[in-house]
Amino acid sequence: MCGIVGYVGEKQAAPILLDGLSKLEYRGYDSAGIAVFDGENISMTKSRGRLKVLEELTHNGETMPGVLGIGHTRWATHGEPSDLNAHPHLNKAESIAVVHNGIIENYLKLKKKLVRKGYEFVSDTDTEVIAHLLDYYYEGNPLRAITKVMHRMEGSYALGIIFKDFPDELYAVRKDSPLIVGHTEGGCIIASDVPAVLKYTRDVYFIENEEIARMSRSTMEFFNVDEEPIEKESTHIDWDVDAAEKGGFEHFMLKEMYEQPKAIEDTFSPRIRGREIVIEELNMSDDEIRRIRKIMIVACGSAYHAGVTGKYVFEGMARIPVEVDLASEFRYRDPILEDGTLVIVISQSGETADSLAALRESHARGAKVLGIVNVVGSSIAREADNVMYTWAGPEIAVATTKAYSCQLIALYLLALKFSEARGEISDRELGEYIEDMKRIPDQVELLLNNKNKIQKFANRYLAARDVFFVGRGIDYAISLEGSLKLKEISYIHSEAYAAGELKHGTISLIEEGTLVAAVMTQEDLYKKMISNVVEVRTRGAFVLAVTNEGNDDVNKAADYVIYIPETNRFFTNSLAIIPLQLFGYYIAVGRGCDVDKPRNLAKSVTVE
Ligand code: AGP
Repeated sequence: MCGIVGYVGEKQAAPILLDGLSKLEYRGYDSAGIAVFDGENISMTKSRGRLKVLEELTHNGETMPGVLGIGHTRWATHGEPSDLNAHPHLNKAESIAVVHNGIIENYLKLKKKLVRKGYEFVSDTDTEVIAHLLDYYYEGNPLRAITKVMHRMEGSYALGIIFKDFPDELYAVRKDSPLIVGHTEGGCIIASDVPAVLKYTRDVYFIENEEIARMSRSTMEFFNVDEEPIEKESTHIDWDVDAAEKGGFEHFMLKEMYEQPKAIEDTFSPRIRGREIVIEELNMSDDEIRRIRKIMIVACGSAYHAGVTGKYVFEGMARIPVEVDLASEFRYRDPILEDGTLVIVISQSGETADSLAALRESHARGAKVLGIVNVVGSSIAREADNVMYTWAGPEIAVATTKAYSCQLIALYLLALKFSEARGEISDRELGEYIEDMKRIPDQVELLLNNKNKIQKFANRYLAARDVFFVGRGIDYAISLEGSLKLKEISYIHSEAYAAGELKHGTISLIEEGTLVAAVMTQEDLYKKMISNVVEVRTRGAFVLAVTNEGNDDVNKAADYVIYIPETNRFFTNSLAIIPLQLFGYYIAVGRGCDVDKPRNLAKSVTVE
């Protein structure tokens, strides 16, 4: 997720661009840049680092005069954060500048074609391909060049584009990534999101897929991909800036929960080619995959919980032995890493001190490390031998939701790739898993729309003292994450337990009215779980069950049941965790807690 802005009008563009970008830093902040037409040329300033660096470099825009410009604040997906990879990107003649939010999935293929035609690239980004492709198709008609490029690109994009030959025109183009345009006094503005324009206008036009906007200081026109003019209605925005940054949601955490369907899709779609799993960044041949004798997963917090799920998935699907360990334990226990061990370090931030230390410890013992990381160019991403990025976009809330969900997807993709390479699943089974995975975004959406029911239930437990989450197998992993989501933002004590372990001590804590959340998505374990539910209910517990649609037996055993849609037994965590995220969220909201910034916690624990 990145932030783009653009302006054309009577005022100086640079200060307006910088101001707009400052309202979009929650969309990305590892580098930033602006390009302004200064009357003769397109001048550009861009740099790695927060927006502040750019403001200092341009003296708050004073060094870049001009009334037409575009700007960008980046969340890297392709190409590490660097001055060269920062946007805007120009064609060689510096007569076209473009900023982009999204992922061009076929950029490598387009880049190869352009290189064969003599184009030279200076960055590692997918966006630079757009600048050169515009150059390739440009014959004096910007709209024509843009529509031709749109027909060639696959993936998602929100673009701001300026052409040196058309110093009074600003172009905005959209497919799948958000983009809005609006009038300001004496000009027009474009932005990825509402917060960047509210200072100038509350009446905006939402650009729909495959639409183009052409603006000048006094005109605003819309076209479809066939260059036919179209009419659009404006929308009046009545949010304040703070609500706008959260997309109208009360908290970033809820907004990011609702971004899960898209984040999940962004993470798997570039890696599913027909009925094949393609993970280029894995850099492992099928032979190397077959030589893996053990997987060691190391992480902290929710990333560790994703790793526990990974254990069940890799062992169940790929039949590879897996050990999962907390990074803070692993780094000091003189771990034994035999030949053929692949270490997987999972980290949203890529900066968690314990996880980074575990990576270095693994290297010191000669093991190969694969990182599953959300922040491009972070320390763990840079030091791992290979890195598989989750494409969740920036996660602002301290309590992770979308990044965790994307970590699960990354683990499923790896397990499918490993299973196929090791002959553990047939092509038919692989196809079925791929179809199941493609259904997850819509199923998550469905569960999120259940939020009022969860909120109503949560309001009954605002005063709870102890809440237990229990499950068996992969449901134990879900319980771990459900418990952490609740306790870290609501400050209610909670524990996750392997359901079969309750009777070995913890069940003594169950009293009249104690809430027990029983996760029951594994059909072969239903009966065992129902016995555990009966065990705790007879001791006074109130049981919330999370189970698969159609599992009606649970109705008789549990007090309150939440159903998840049908999927295969390995992917249930992606669905069952949704009601548990919502449960923790609404309890925290009901208790008046600071949901996005819980006490004592940091988004990235970069110290021991
Ligand atoms: C989870 O909601 C917390 N934010 C925390 O447990 C987090 O998952 C853990 O600190 C690991 O962070 P990382 O993924 O950035 O390494």
